[in-house]
Amino acid sequence: MYVCLCNGVTESAIRNAVDEGVRTYRELSFKTGCGTTCGSCVPVARALLQECLSET
Ligand code: FES
Repeated sequence: MYVCLCNGVTESAIRNAVDEGVRTYRELSFKTGCGTTCGSCVPVARALLQECLSET
């Protein structure tokens, strides 16, 4: 499922980024491009990031 349509970032890409060491939204954005265009995905991406971090 796409989280960020602008940049083609999927939920699994965000999970993989966390598996590879991403711990903050800034790092996630830098690594995947998520949220860097229109910004409408930021709340969902942040929530998913927190969910992934709570599972680690
Ligand atoms: Fe993510 Fe637009 S949907 S920046």
